[in-house]
Amino acid sequence: MALVPVTELLLHAEREGYAIGAFNANNMEIIQAIAEAAEKENSPVIMQASQGAINYAGLEFITGMVKIAAEATRVPIALHLDHGTDFGQIIKCIRSGFSSIMYDGSKLPLEQNIAITNKILEICRPIGVSVEAELGKIGGTEDDIHVSQKEAMYTDPEEARIFVEKTGVDSLAIAIGTAHGQYKGDPKLDFVRLKEIKELVKVPIVLHGSSGVSDESIRKAISLGVCKINIDTNIREAFVGEMRRRMAEKPGEIDPRKLLGPAKDAAVTIIREKIKIFGSSGKAEKYSLD
Ligand code: G3H
Ligand code: 13P
Ligand code: ZN
Repeated sequence: MALVPVTELLLHAEREGYAIGAFNANNMEIIQAIAEAAEKENSPVIMQASQGAINYAGLEFITGMVKIAAEATRVPIALHLDHGTDFGQIIKCIRSGFSSIMYDGSKLPLEQNIAITNKILEICRPIGVSVEAELGKIGGTEDDIHVSQKEAMYTDPEEARIFVEKTGVDSLAIAIGTAHGQYKGDPKLDFVRLKEIKELVKVPIVLHGSSGVSDESIRKAISLGVCKINIDTNIREAFVGEMRRRMAEKPGEIDPRKLLGPAKDAAVTIIREKIKIFGSSGKAEKYSLD
């Protein structure tokens, strides 16, 4: 299939009470793994590339590989820019064929975040590219901050209402206690805040930093309106963990394919598990663009 926009995927997920997995596409093997997992689960899926992934692999390589993967599968696949902060790069991604972009203005004051998101929307709307924005700050687990400081960074429900009203953005990433990277303990999500936000905001909600969040919390978040769930760290752990095991077993191995092949298979396994938890297995069939 050709690449699909994200908005239709999310609205379908919202209607049916499941979530679409948005998996970070960092190299060829991970792109192949996401496509294979989606196909095996008969699930729609989002492949997302961060600025770091684009700098690493090159924009044309990322777009080319994801397009090839999408065209070789029967399930709907979207290509999304993850945490875009640079206007020029966002335009390059759109020109390269991304079907969706995230503009991350979360570090900016509200009015400035609104103004730039609107500028991006003006460009994306006529060409059918979906736009995700972020409100509140989703930090990293490595950020050494106290709980009270963290809560101060959470998304304010009233600001979320104003933001969506003034932009009409397609989806909104919120901060409710998740963080990017590996957690030290069990992350506690602020479900009361999520519920308040969802009551005020009528667009699909996105959960970042979802690796390491318990299955129970993920299911609860979905039941409260989250319908895009970002996973990167759990794939890195599975992929690199398998490479490490193989290298320890056979320290003399010099064929990269003998390390990367099993690493890809480990990524397929974890992505399939996530897709099942998100409830999107089998949803490719029911999905329709109308
Ligand atoms: O949002 C964070 C993602 O895990 C991307 O991380 O910037 O290292 O590619 P990255
Ligand atoms: P994790 O790496 O914590 O899964 O977060 C991924 C993410 O939010 C990408 O935007
Ligand atoms: Zn993120």
